[in-house]
Amino acid sequence: MIEKLSAIGGRALEEIEKTSSFESLDQIRVSLLGKKGSLNEVLKGLSGINPEERPVIGAAANEWKRKIEAALEVRKSSLEKVHLEQQLQKEKLDISAPARLAHRGSLHLVTQTVRRMMQIFGRLGFDVTLGPEAETDYLNFEAVNIPADHPARDMQDTFFLGPGVVLRTHTSGVQMRSMLAQKWPVRVLCPGAVYRCDHDATHSPMFHQVEGLWVDKNVRMSDLKGVLQFWARELFGSDTQIRLRPSYFPFVEPGAEVDVSCFRCRVKASDDCKICKGTGWLEVLGAGMVHPRLFEMAGYSGDTEGLSGFAFGIGVERIAMLLHEVPDLRLLFQGDVRFLSQF
Ligand code: PHE
Repeated sequence: MIEKLSAIGGRALEEIEKTSSFESLDQIRVSLLGKKGSLNEVLKGLSGINPEERPVIGAAANEWKRKIEAALEVRKSSLEKVHLEQQLQKEKLDISAPARLAHRGSLHLVTQTVRRMMQIFGRLGFDVTLGPEAETDYLNFEAVNIPADHPARDMQDTFFLGPGVVLRTHTSGVQMRSMLAQKWPVRVLCPGAVYRCDHDATHSPMFHQVEGLWVDKNVRMSDLKGVLQFWARELFGSDTQIRLRPSYFPFVEPGAEVDVSCFRCRVKASDDCKICKGTGWLEVLGAGMVHPRLFEMAGYSGDTEGLSGFAFGIGVERIAMLLHEVPDLRLLFQGDVRFLSQF
């Protein structure tokens, strides 16, 4: 039996040495050491042997088992080494090759511009408030001092959705909603999409506004100037100046158009400045002191002595176009990613 064991063991060691794959190595293991493996088959004959010899044969069988296991282990690790070596050869990495950059999305230029403004006015204590784009005729017009027969309605070519409902032509209705919802002090910023029936290189039927409202006791026009001055410097550069020109909006009195000095030619008004067309100034927004009629409409009563406020309305697309020298408003809404991903 000892010879039989040595024959099996010796052959096994040779075979193990010759194996070149993990699969055949495993097959050898099963055929020798498995339950029905040849080593076990030999040991099954142990019962027919006299008891004195059994321990000797058992020890020899265990010795072969150990040797075979060790040989399997050695072969396995050398096969692993070869395998790894082959893989490294095959999958060579060129770490000097330029990286392929992952595609990253970006926010739409209009969204970016609105967010910048929310940040700037947020630092002055303005809360952001939103309202519906389908607005009542009453809040869009009447409540902000534009009655049905008022000529100012023509300033804003309106989309009518149905009786008494319009696509809001400005976010001033949201300001009125804020005043209806709370007493002074009110300091809100109303960003959002607005709609006017107009379409060319500088007008879109849908565009965005950021309107602001500050109502409290003794709010003065100089406060309005200070707030807008801060905004203009943050957005266009620290040496930006603003100027107010008298203008008319039904919801403010007095009202003003506000210009900022050209951030390119810095009021030098150079003739070839493409941004300001040589005027040195850029018209960017409307503003004014809240018309007292709006406080009445808001139901403000009681201790209203000295109550005042200012409002302003900024066209977001115009600001974005100026800052990034976008020549045509329509580019912003055509959904061409090659254009949009520049910002
Ligand atoms: N609501 C005005 C518009 O859309 C903008 C504005 C707001 C003007 C506040 C003055 C004061 O045209």
